Amino acid sequence: MPKLYIETVGCQMNVLDSELVVAALRNEGYELTSDTAVADTVLFNTCSVREHAEEKIYSALGRLKNAKQQNPGKVIGVIGCMAQNHQRTVFERAPYVDLIVGPGQLHQIPELIRKVQSGGGQQIEVSLGRKEGTRESIARSHESFDPLRDPTMRPTPFQAYVRIQIGCDKFCTYCIVPSVRGPEQSRPPEHILAEARQLAGEGCKEITLLGQTVNSYKFGEGERITRFSDLIYSLHEIDGIERIKFVTNYPKDMTDDLLTAVRDLPKCSKYLHVPAQSGSDAQLRAMRRGYTVGEYREMLARTYEQIPGVAVTSDFIVGFSGETDEDFQLSMDLVRESRFKNSFIFKYSERPGTKGAMLLPDDVPDDVKRARNNEMLALQNEISEADNQLFLGQNVQVLVEGLSKSAEKKAGAQTAAGESRNREHVVQLTGRTMCDRIVVFDGNRRQIGETIDIAIYDANAHTLFGTVVVQHVGLELVTLR
Ligand code: SAH
Ligand code: SF4
Ligand code: F3S
Repeated sequence: MPKLYIETVGCQMNVLDSELVVAALRNEGYELTSDTAVADTVLFNTCSVREHAEEKIYSALGRLKNAKQQNPGKVIGVIGCMAQNHQRTVFERAPYVDLIVGPGQLHQIPELIRKVQSGGGQQIEVSLGRKEGTRESIARSHESFDPLRDPTMRPTPFQAYVRIQIGCDKFCTYCIVPSVRGPEQSRPPEHILAEARQLAGEGCKEITLLGQTVNSYKFGEGERITRFSDLIYSLHEIDGIERIKFVTNYPKDMTDDLLTAVRDLPKCSKYLHVPAQSGSDAQLRAMRRGYTVGEYREMLARTYEQIPGVAVTSDFIVGFSGETDEDFQLSMDLVRESRFKNSFIFKYSERPGTKGAMLLPDDVPDDVKRARNNEMLALQNEISEADNQLFLGQNVQVLVEGLSKSAEKKAGAQTAAGESRNREHVVQLTGRTMCDRIVVFDGNRRQIGETIDIAIYDANAHTLFGTVVVQHVGLELVTLR
């Protein structure tokens, strides 16, 4: 059997894409390996959102150079966003790469590998650039192929991503995503529903809907428009699906109909990722985010008011072009008052080809970016920890995802030592609450995939710790006559 090694970086879109690529190659008889040395095909599913992510891939490719010299039959492929972004530059920097495949051409991978293997030479398949045709033709060149699912490729078979939208049209000045993922396109609701029903039939309990601005989802025209909230109501009807999540939300599209749906639908996770990016109007303008801090605050107030107990998370970029100390302090103010469950904080990384790179200087020194990043992270951690402490003594409902990280390690070491993995009765498990908080507790492997009650006795910024609430079965007294 041919062996496939695949490494995935980047966002959830890429995780889903890799699942689909693996499913397609399994159909061709491939099996997975975690060792590049024995792999017949090595694929890197890449990300271009920051320079660091790209440089890591070039380093990984560098480490494969010798292996390729020793075994010229090994097929090496760079797929996903960096393939679309760098195109032939990848061949120039790593001439022993055989395949470059953009996110819109992933379904061609099995055929392209065959072409390489039968002596066809280097293969490249990418989509049109955002100025290389009509909107129609560019959109068509970014098609994705979603129906091929492979439960064995997911971390857990009872959780799955479902793409509802591809691409992005927001063109924030710092961001490469609209170039590499193409125009925003919403999938037809009946395709999404069919896929969710199929997943539920295979035992999937939790679906996470994916889109770069997932809540901008809209399908159809005139009278027959399906809004994002309509889609959630329909998905909510599917038997077997117990939890519905979605990422990433665009602040301007947090409409009341969506908030009402999240509040009223019991299967809807009370968790919303709504990146602010900055707390300064000057910065938001330079980023062309399309809203002011005042509008973001109004949206957040409405969200907290309408959905009791909701957890909101955010992304921030520090050190974007022209960010002054005052701008940064305004972002800190927003973090301080917003009580985000968590914030992802990134140092601005200039991306060639974006409006930001063309028009705005990358003028904040790296040490200032780093210092701001650390300062904001420290503040967010303080808030996360204080808010997690509020759960002490409470019971929460947890969907159990699997072994905790430390239990995974222990199990791995035991397997390596040849011991039975199932010998232990009590293992440390991890799962998430309805508002996406991570909970770690001692339990039994049988509980993986179940939703159970956990009593919380400790908490830090990232994790709640608890014990299983024993359910006392009411004993009925039966009098025999
Ligand atoms: N579609 C999502 C985010 C996609 S990228 C949204 O609009 O929110 C994920 C995060 O990476 C962004 O929210 C942003 O905070 C960060 N990011 C994007 N481009 C970046 C860049 N050039 N430098 C640093 N961070 C960036
Ligand atoms: Fe990038 Fe902005 Fe689109 Fe998000 S909304 S993917 S940050 S361009
Ligand atoms: Fe990266 Fe592409 Fe996602 S650039 S963040 S993997 S859409």
